[in-house]
Amino acid sequence: MDRAQQQRIDRLAAQADLPDGELLQLLKARDDESAAYIAGFARRAAQRYYGTNVYLRGLIEFTNYCKNDCYYCGIRRSNSRADRYRLTGEQILECCEAGYALGFRTFVLQGGEDPFYTDARLCAIVRQIKSAWPDCAITLSVGERSAASYRALYDAGADRYLLRHETADEPHYQSLHPASMSWRHRMDCLNTLRAIGFQTGCGFMVGSPGQTDRHLVKDLRFIKTFAPHMVGIGPFIPHHDTPLADRPAGTLELTLFLLSVIRLLLPAVLLPATTALGTIAPDGREQGILAGANVVMPNLSPVSVRKKYELYDNKICTGEEAAECRLCLQRRIESIGYHVAAQRGDSKVAYPAHT
Ligand code: 5AD
Ligand code: FES
Repeated sequence: MDRAQQQRIDRLAAQADLPDGELLQLLKARDDESAAYIAGFARRAAQRYYGTNVYLRGLIEFTNYCKNDCYYCGIRRSNSRADRYRLTGEQILECCEAGYALGFRTFVLQGGEDPFYTDARLCAIVRQIKSAWPDCAITLSVGERSAASYRALYDAGADRYLLRHETADEPHYQSLHPASMSWRHRMDCLNTLRAIGFQTGCGFMVGSPGQTDRHLVKDLRFIKTFAPHMVGIGPFIPHHDTPLADRPAGTLELTLFLLSVIRLLLPAVLLPATTALGTIAPDGREQGILAGANVVMPNLSPVSVRKKYELYDNKICTGEEAAECRLCLQRRIESIGYHVAAQRGDSKVAYPAHT
């Protein structure tokens, strides 16, 4: 690491920002030494807000039907080899019940953009979960919907919403998605979610095909400006039945570095060490926490459907029961000196209470 790189990191840590040109240099000049140096600052920043707590979110992948056709995603509409499934409301509630007994206080309902889950159906599920476990937070991750739909889901009791922006560069976005999808619409959705009052999460894939350091600087600038409560990033991993099957995966090294940068840009953000990170390296999630992440999202979906929610190849945790993943992650987190937090784990960013 040269002196200029060290000074950039010192400045980023002190000011929680850097000009775009400096961010670009920071990415270009990264090496093992500067990655270790920035990770130290990132860990201390996370610990200032959250101590050595790592928050658990129970992920329920409740449908792999999707009307979209993103070029990178294994459950895209055109993948006729995907074995499609939907969980019933009853099955979703069973997942929550098992999860609650294991200590989960946040449930993340994630799925493809599946028109079967109308507002009426999805709101009913949200209400049932909230009335059975009022002490739990519900996070939705079901893609782009209308403002009226988002409002109805919020009024039904959903607390948080994850919608990765995927890339902050419009042409890059268009290169990863068919013409029927629009970057502007996705950005509008994020603004709407935030305005409604959701604790909102954005994010992107690291190493997605065509991504450059300049695109990443745009992503970082967007994240800093949007100032979401949560940011989800993980490596792009090719899926064999998609148009991007032959493209290389994103790297562990770049993902960890970006986790540290994001932690320093938004010190109080909730930042998961994602399943994709655990897929490209056996200890990827632990390394993610040591680079500044503070959330993990073990799978609560029924084991019978796990393999079918295949966004990318070789996804981990597809054979394990919820209890096994819970224990496995606890062991992993404690092995690096952190603790599993049993609370809801709300963001320490000031946000309006759910009304
Ligand atoms: N590799 C890594 N992440 C992917 N996602 C979708 N497909 C892939 C892939 N092939 C991510 C997208 C999406 C989230 C649910 O999963 O960023 O927003
Ligand atoms: Fe699922 Fe380790 S977290 S098996």
